Amino acid sequence: MMNYDLIVYNIGQLILPKSSPKPLNGEEMKQLTIKENAAIAVQDKKIAWIGSTEESYKLDARERIDAKRRVVSPGLVDPHTHLVFGGSREKELAMKQAGIPYLDILANGGGILSTVEATKQASEDELFEKAAFHLDRMISYGVTTIEAKSGYGLDPATEMKQLRVVKRLKEKYPITIVSTFLGPHAIPPTYKGKEERFLHEMIDLLDDIKENKLADFADIFCETGVFTIEQSRHFLERAKEKGFGLKIHADEIDSLGGTELAVALGATSADHLVAASDTGISDLANSHTVAVLLPGTTFYLGKDSFARARKMIDEGVAVALATDFNPGSCVTENIQLIMSLAALKLKMTAEEIWNAVTVNAAFAIGKQDEAGILEIGRLANFVIWEVPNYLYLPYHFGVNHANSVYHSGSKIWG
Ligand code: NIG
Ligand code: FE
Repeated sequence: MMNYDLIVYNIGQLILPKSSPKPLNGEEMKQLTIKENAAIAVQDKKIAWIGSTEESYKLDARERIDAKRRVVSPGLVDPHTHLVFGGSREKELAMKQAGIPYLDILANGGGILSTVEATKQASEDELFEKAAFHLDRMISYGVTTIEAKSGYGLDPATEMKQLRVVKRLKEKYPITIVSTFLGPHAIPPTYKGKEERFLHEMIDLLDDIKENKLADFADIFCETGVFTIEQSRHFLERAKEKGFGLKIHADEIDSLGGTELAVALGATSADHLVAASDTGISDLANSHTVAVLLPGTTFYLGKDSFARARKMIDEGVAVALATDFNPGSCVTENIQLIMSLAALKLKMTAEEIWNAVTVNAAFAIGKQDEAGILEIGRLANFVIWEVPNYLYLPYHFGVNHANSVYHSGSKIWG
């Protein structure tokens, strides 16, 4: 008889997002299997068995954990973060309170550009320590897989420095990290009027990044005063030719058509989408591009209108949720807070929200074979939650509900 490495039993509710060959579309997102009184067994880092608590008593294991009727879910996936940066921007909060718009702060050399300066100044080791601090906090909230972007260098040396930090985090941390090159995140002041030249430099860097395996995805900030649709298309097409998966910061503030562009190019995800057009939404519904919604950013920018998640889901779009953790537009590592905002501001149901931070978030970063669901043969990434049922987590907001967090069957927090 098998002697398992670990059995977790007496699970009040085991959250089982559906295994699927493609992201769950709106209709599928409404469903979520909840197994009551469940148990799971881990062998060689993987889920080896799922059954009832009753049945688990007949199995042998080196270690047994009584979940005490708590809820267990797959490890959460945060598919959009700007994890590596220098400095902080607390001084800009007063400008926001005075009503100065986000894009105006950027146009005046603040915002992203102020973080770029601080990131250039910081050594690789300093950036690593700082990112590790934030990453530890993300993990404490139940996250076992993340995406991390560059984009605070805007010059080859600093962009590479950020990407090397992500690589070191990957090597050091017992979690799954996906790396994204976001070189075209803003236009450096010295390139005003020479945007095409800047884009070319960023395109040139793609080969180096590929050669050194420093990023899986390429991303661009397509927005008024930043990069146009044509520039975004050009950059993403080159990135696609060079074998990168595509992501795009699309239609966050103005409706430029970044959503439509993402679908046309077969992007893995289109992110933000607060101002996505009706056509953009119906294009998404007919594609495998995941809509990554970031309600924390809309909230933190002090806006009243959020991404039209209900329309997206009802039309069949596959939706995921992420923190967008960054020092300017969404300063939180707390994915659970994002789940509450999704309930309150995006009007998503608890079932949709759990699917959006697990299976669909994994699809949004190409990690669907590794993360997001619990099934036999998968890495045993899971969270034990200090909540009475799965509805409770989005409901009780602003605190950490994680009891303990596991990656590959080992406890990494709690
Ligand atoms: O996703 N929108 C552009 N980029 C980030 C913000 C970066 C920053 O303000 O530092 C975002 O919101
Ligand atoms: Fe972002």
